Amino acid sequence: MAQSGVKEAPTPCYIIEEEALLSNLKILDSVQKQAGCKIIMALKGFAMFAVFPLIRQYLCGVAASSLDEAKLGYEEFGGEVHVCAPAYAETEFEEILGHADHIVFNSFSQWRRFKARVTGSNRKISCGIRINPEHSEVKMPIYDPCGPFSRLGTTRENFEENELDGITGLHFHNLCELNSDSLARTLKAVEDKFGSVFHRLKWINFGGGHHITRKDYDTDLLCSLIKDFKNRYPLDVYLEPGEAIALNAGVLEASVLDIIHNKMDIAILDTSAAAHMPDVLEMPYRPSIRGAGLPGEYRHTYRLGGMTCLAGDIIGDYSFPVPLNTGARLVFEDMAHYTMVKNNTFNGIRLPSIAIRESSGNIRIIRRFGYKDYKNRLS
Ligand SMILES: Cc1ncc(COP(=O)(O)O)c(C=O)c1O
Repeated sequence: MAQSGVKEAPTPCYIIEEEALLSNLKILDSVQKQAGCKIIMALKGFAMFAVFPLIRQYLCGVAASSLDEAKLGYEEFGGEVHVCAPAYAETEFEEILGHADHIVFNSFSQWRRFKARVTGSNRKISCGIRINPEHSEVKMPIYDPCGPFSRLGTTRENFEENELDGITGLHFHNLCELNSDSLARTLKAVEDKFGSVFHRLKWINFGGGHHITRKDYDTDLLCSLIKDFKNRYPLDVYLEPGEAIALNAGVLEASVLDIIHNKMDIAILDTSAAAHMPDVLEMPYRPSIRGAGLPGEYRHTYRLGGMTCLAGDIIGDYSFPVPLNTGARLVFEDMAHYTMVKNNTFNGIRLPSIAIRESSGNIRIIRRFGYKDYKNRLS
């Protein structure tokens, strides 16, 4: 149930900052206008549909990686629905056809398997092939789609030019939280390897991982890369970032439940790295906490731990100018993307509520979760 005008959200709670989201959208829109490209939102990174009406004012559609994301985009966002997945299941393809207007195939074998179904559909669907430019920019192997033996995209060696009849686009994705210099090098690899087929296409998708709304991101370089590309090839250019849409546009507020001591002070919170901010363990990284510093930077240092049984459910060690007490509230910064879409109910821990801090400063609670949400995932 939505609830308006709350001064403080119940914890744990993701709170999306409407103003910050809007400012990201304006940056993305200026790129679209300057570069003459289209930006769609990757739902895998951010899928809070309560704010889709706002996002829709600036972006023309969504990038989905599954049937259910495609359905959500179709139902709640509208506009263009692009689907791209490592493989499609026979059992789901018919429904995908009912929701997508762009479908990207990861291999020519998938394209052959589904080609007749797409061309026989009564909806107009534009098909593409995901290519793998075999050019790595990402240092962490788990996030590098172009690493050795990657399953993501068709390499030049396996690219079947004689099967392009019916294909109108190419898609590549090899970035993660990177600046436009990485795209410049990637584009060169893409052009060198696949440029000879561009004249047969209508569009190309430069994937996600463009950290466009980060302060030091070089949007001028991005725009000039796209404009130069479009001067050479008359193709529609799409970008499909997820993180850039919601970067620094929301927090996770949590409370301290207990303070214990085991050779150091340890605070147990009503949240969890494992369940509510899984990238802290998976990426891994140390989230910022408002007003807190590195261990020892302020007088009172604590290890912050989550509610699950996992020994490693540790968010990190932080120091504070004043001692933490039971009931103290902590604000984890930059928690809008890759959190709600990835969280889980491990140990039966409840999912954080979801709220919006409106431009007026009011907090509107959009959703609270309960026992039913946990039970419904089980049988
Ligand atoms: C194919 C594809 N497109 C878009 C994205 C979104 O990337 P990001 O949220 O880093 O912008 C990803 C992320 O993994 C992806 O795999």
